[in-house]
Amino acid sequence: MILPTEYCQRREQLMSKLGNGTAIFHSAPVAVMHNDVEYNFRQDSDFFYLTGFNEPQAVAVLAPHHQEHRFILFVQPKDAEKEVWTGYLTGVEAAKKKFGADEVYPIAELDEKLPQYLEKADQIYYHLGREHAFNKTILKHWQRMMAGYPKRGTGPMAMASTNPILHAMRQVKSPAELELMRKAVDISVEAHNYAREFTQPGRYEYEVQAELEKIFRMQAALGPAYPSIVASGVNSCVLHYVENNRQMQDNELLLIDAGCSYGYYNADITRTFPVGTKFTPEQKILYEIVLKAQLAAIAQVKPGNPYNQFHDVAVRVLVEGLMDLGLLAGDIEEIIKEEKYKPFYMHRTGHWLGLDVHDCGSYKQGEDVWQSLQPGHVVTVEPGLYIGPEIKPVEGQPEIPEKWRGIGIRIEDDVLVTESGHEVLTAEVPKSIEEMEG
Ligand code: GLY
Ligand code: MN
Ligand code: MN
Repeated sequence: MILPTEYCQRREQLMSKLGNGTAIFHSAPVAVMHNDVEYNFRQDSDFFYLTGFNEPQAVAVLAPHHQEHRFILFVQPKDAEKEVWTGYLTGVEAAKKKFGADEVYPIAELDEKLPQYLEKADQIYYHLGREHAFNKTILKHWQRMMAGYPKRGTGPMAMASTNPILHAMRQVKSPAELELMRKAVDISVEAHNYAREFTQPGRYEYEVQAELEKIFRMQAALGPAYPSIVASGVNSCVLHYVENNRQMQDNELLLIDAGCSYGYYNADITRTFPVGTKFTPEQKILYEIVLKAQLAAIAQVKPGNPYNQFHDVAVRVLVEGLMDLGLLAGDIEEIIKEEKYKPFYMHRTGHWLGLDVHDCGSYKQGEDVWQSLQPGHVVTVEPGLYIGPEIKPVEGQPEIPEKWRGIGIRIEDDVLVTESGHEVLTAEVPKSIEEMEG
């Protein structure tokens, strides 16, 4: 659980880097499922990280230079009639106490109250984002502030995104965040291990999905962290296959990419295994290559290593494997440089993981400078090989024999960078050939 003191520390840490700027954050939009039915609300991750406040139509302001109010919330006020339909609202009074704001206003008063927090600021920190109407509101206020500058002598003359500062903070997970991530991982591990037992020829992909997601929900996870991918046979060659409606057959592989969201933090795990009890010879050969690439990549996850290193290592192992099979030919350096392996491996080997599944934060610190891994970072390591039925080799590369087609394999773990190296958070889901056939 994230305590109010931690939210407060995060705001203080951010404010210490804002100088005389004022930072503004808007809650997530409400997404429509169809007509007047909405998806469950999911707060914007930046907004949640700084406030813990989980309602739509809200704005958070950080004004470190303001005499009285440094943290201001604008929220929906209590409204008994509305709450009967849409659930409880925290309201102005309770928000102040519960979320530690110095001042809370009804959201309808934003236009009236916001200027006092901008007048003395030398810049506005606001990321022009998905809330287009709110982008316009902020630009309008900025314009007014600039127009009043000559008389006032103060006011923001610049606007900057908060992302570089805030997202660098979010990249390094605190002990409390890691506790929630471990919980998300533990639930997801259990779900994967059961799903593997449950899978057998004749069952449908959606039955496996249902078993996975039942375990998520039964353990108080919010639900899947992303649409669960349960992809058998040729479907395993579609990276984001989510139909999950096919009957699984013996001699096929099943690729499951699924993880839950617990307390807003996410797990992201992929395993690929035989629907029946044994890999076919071709499946086994390709699986061994992907596993070798994944283990070699994980070994590169340690403090100080450039982010890209584990991807580069995975690519090299995959390419070597494909060359040994005669599926790629020529000079290995050229194959890698010119990305001739891309028909087989078209995605990157991982991403940051946290409040967002593809978590925020920079991968680079300049055109050719990769971010260094540091303790508290969490990455996924997820190499794969996908030989779709229609795969076309890059010009000049060998034709791909029929026996390899229709096989897709990915192995994905969540890996924490520690002081001395790394910890594979998802290690309890087996991945050796023997265990996958068991
Ligand atoms: N499940 C999404 C991903 O692996 O990136
Ligand atoms: Mn995944
Ligand atoms: Mn992933």
